[in-house]
Amino acid sequence: MDSEAVARNGDKTRFQTGKLPGTFTTHVRGGSSMKFPGLNLMSWLPANEIAVDLGTANTLVYVKGEGIVLNEPSVVAIEKSTGKIKGIGLEAKRMLGRTPDGILAVRPLKDGVIADFDVTEKMLRYFLKTIIDKHVFRVKPKVIICVPSGITEVERRAVRDSAETAGAKQVLMVAEPMAAAIGVGLPVETPTGNMVIDIGGGTTEIAVIALSGIVSDTSIRTGGDELDQAIVQFMRKNYNLLVGEPTAEAIKIKIGSAAPTGDEREMEVKGRDLVSGIPKTVRVHSTEIREAVQEPIQQIVDAVRRALEITPPELASDIVDRGIVMTGGGALIRGLDLLLAQETGLPIHVDEDPLTCVVRGTGRILDDFEKYRSVLST
Ligand SMILES: Nc1ncnc2c1ncn2[C@@H]1O[C@H](COP(=O)(O)OP(=O)(O)OP(=O)(O)O)[C@@H](O)[C@H]1O
Ligand SMILES: [Mg+2]
Repeated sequence: MDSEAVARNGDKTRFQTGKLPGTFTTHVRGGSSMKFPGLNLMSWLPANEIAVDLGTANTLVYVKGEGIVLNEPSVVAIEKSTGKIKGIGLEAKRMLGRTPDGILAVRPLKDGVIADFDVTEKMLRYFLKTIIDKHVFRVKPKVIICVPSGITEVERRAVRDSAETAGAKQVLMVAEPMAAAIGVGLPVETPTGNMVIDIGGGTTEIAVIALSGIVSDTSIRTGGDELDQAIVQFMRKNYNLLVGEPTAEAIKIKIGSAAPTGDEREMEVKGRDLVSGIPKTVRVHSTEIREAVQEPIQQIVDAVRRALEITPPELASDIVDRGIVMTGGGALIRGLDLLLAQETGLPIHVDEDPLTCVVRGTGRILDDFEKYRSVLST
């Protein structure tokens, strides 16, 4: 599978930034979506309230009254000599590992937080500007951004500065697992304890939520990216084959698993032979890939165990009754729900669209601001 296929995965609401033809998809609250050729009815209303899931792997944007209007990989292609942006989002993701000498395709977020402030700010500015410019009346929006719950004050400032420089009037933040829980529809404001595991590209966050707050939180900087890395290493060690990260991600999505699911698969993988330097193709089996990703998977399992250990007993009993909800793209790894159920003895539920939980939750916060005000911080 190519990187294009990877990028399409889970992508229900993507639009091509900067390349909109005469058709807009307008998402109407309530979940329906309509197509208006050459005319976006919503564009008459300004985009003055925007929710952003600024993820290590994907950035999603929700505009109040419209729904999710953008879903792009968090990747930027830059011309080395001038620093000029050559592509952002899917266009740049297609360039990962394929760029000529003069161009660099970078992922400005790492482990859930901003690694390259300048590039993150440019990317965010581009996404926000693209959205604001689609509206007849342009205003500086109020922006809610999701951040990892373990974020430091310096990292928090970097997110705030990025959004402000990108054109936000006011920036509010919400912890990612809280947004995920709201997106899934959990009653976060009640005294009942709910546990959410959000597995993104760069982080896994496990939170117990009650009374609109995070009661306990375990966050590790291991996510889907580490699985890709493990596959790159495995192919190098076992097949003398060099593959890039997009190929490793494709292998993970197509045949990767955390536990046997009764659905073993095989695929052809192309790469460069380490010894001869010549391109070659090998066939790999899902059992090998399961072995390859075992270490990061075990780190996730251990983190869930730790999270359960520090959960206050009253809330733990709620979790026994209600189970755990898994969100984020990493929740799609086959067999992970089975493995976690086995290891914890608890029911594990996977949201039906785990890649959009966080932005949907942030959107709900915008839609019902008074109800959720207490989950926000500045
Ligand atoms: N079908 C799938 N199977 C396995 N992994 C998948 C699948 N689809 C997407 N992923 C992985 O999910 C991850 C991206 O998930 P997501 O968009 O939730 O992350 P993110 O929010 O950008 O990251 P973070 O929350 O860590 O900042 C990537 O590692 C991607 O490879
Ligand atoms: Mg995320």
